[in-house]
Amino acid sequence: MDQSQANAKVVVDGNTFELPVIIGTEGERGIDISKLRSLTNYVTFDHGFGNTSNCASAITFLDGESGVLRYRGYPIEQLAEQSSFIETAYLLIYGELPNSDQLRHFSESFTEHSMLHEDMKNFFDGYPSTAHPMAILASMVCSLSAYYPGIDMLNPTKEDFDRIVVMLMSKVRTIVAFAHKKSLGQPFVYPRHDLEYIPNFLNMLFSSPTHQYKIYDEVVQALKVLFILHADHEQNCSTSTVRLVGSSWANLYASITAGICALWGPLHGGANEEVIMMLEQMYREGGDVDKYISMAKDKSSRFRLMGFGHRVYKSYDPRAKIIKKSAHDLLKKLGIHDPLLEIAVKLEEKALADPYFIERNLYPNVDFYSGIIYKAIGIPMNMFTVMFAIARLPGWIAHWKEMMESPGAKIGRPRQIYVGMNKRDYVPITKR
Ligand code: ACO
Repeated sequence: MDQSQANAKVVVDGNTFELPVIIGTEGERGIDISKLRSLTNYVTFDHGFGNTSNCASAITFLDGESGVLRYRGYPIEQLAEQSSFIETAYLLIYGELPNSDQLRHFSESFTEHSMLHEDMKNFFDGYPSTAHPMAILASMVCSLSAYYPGIDMLNPTKEDFDRIVVMLMSKVRTIVAFAHKKSLGQPFVYPRHDLEYIPNFLNMLFSSPTHQYKIYDEVVQALKVLFILHADHEQNCSTSTVRLVGSSWANLYASITAGICALWGPLHGGANEEVIMMLEQMYREGGDVDKYISMAKDKSSRFRLMGFGHRVYKSYDPRAKIIKKSAHDLLKKLGIHDPLLEIAVKLEEKALADPYFIERNLYPNVDFYSGIIYKAIGIPMNMFTVMFAIARLPGWIAHWKEMMESPGAKIGRPRQIYVGMNKRDYVPITKR
């Protein structure tokens, strides 16, 4: 980050104040308002943080106007095609692509830490079989801090931090698979040492004492692409939550738990589940997409086209482009005909030609086609958002690490404009 020579000028109550301008490595410019209140006694008002940068970050670059997404400088298209999820996770967290020794060591550590503490298995007994997997995941991740303590969270050694990273990423996968088994009433399938990250996960999800799940390369590849594309997305709602919670020096498990809860919302990661529910409803009603487009445009209804629109992308989400192609490829390879894909394509075509969506730059986002892939793999709908959470973990960890290591980091504490009652005196209940 550069401090620009130029300053911005703000005129408040007739007085002019100069504020520094900072410039990012891709030329993005920001006005540093951190001294605004002490200089002027004014704060800024920015609903939903649409114009506010809370930090400088070197992890992910996103240009929403041009549809560009890069992790640590590497285009997302190249990573999705050529990298693995584990390698991309390493890149996001540690800043550089690993060499072969680093990658081997990193991958082996996942295997070493894939088991859950046996006592934690008992937790699953307490949940009803209908429990949403996001509820289970959030509480189990927070509970991990009770089972695997012994790390100085404020100042972890490099070894401790490395251990915590692989523990989290590896165990989260086991928790999600166990949550699925719990919902089916089936025995848990333990992680295997001979399988890599994604095949191991698929085996825990779908094998049983009476059935050995066959792991198809096409499925592993499709899941790998999805995981890489979801791995980070700079200051989105859940990542900002992880940073905000972590800024109080809450431990990494607690901060990630908060991120999981933020991701659950249907306007964020929960949209992937909502999209399939919406497409299924359209299918049941005969595939009339026009009705839903009209509903989405009707300001008197709260209905939105799920999987459409984005705070930052004002052009086609580059992740959605890859996922759409991946969905077509996977269904073809598996010989699956899913009418929901046809409806989704039809809906996209109609929406992209509609003035309402054109004027507002509303395009399919990452969640629009991902559910079709999960569905084809056999992952139930209520598991879609936990799949997102597994994939987003490296990004959350990378941001927590970056924030903790940043010299100027402060506790996150926004201001407000108070619009409530002015001072008034208390009235005892007998006189009200
Ligand atoms: N369907 C219909 N109208 C929409 C949609 C949509 N999906 N998304 C935005 N709009 C409209 C808004 O009503 C608003 O219209 P107006 O200018 O007439 O008031 C305009 O487009 C701008 O929308 P905002 O809500 O101001 O945009 P914001 O950046 O706050 O919201 C969001 C972004 C939450 C993603 C929104 O587009 C949305 O709700 N989409 C559907 C849910 C979804 O798919 N979420 C996943 C996002 S990706 C992710 O988080 C992983």
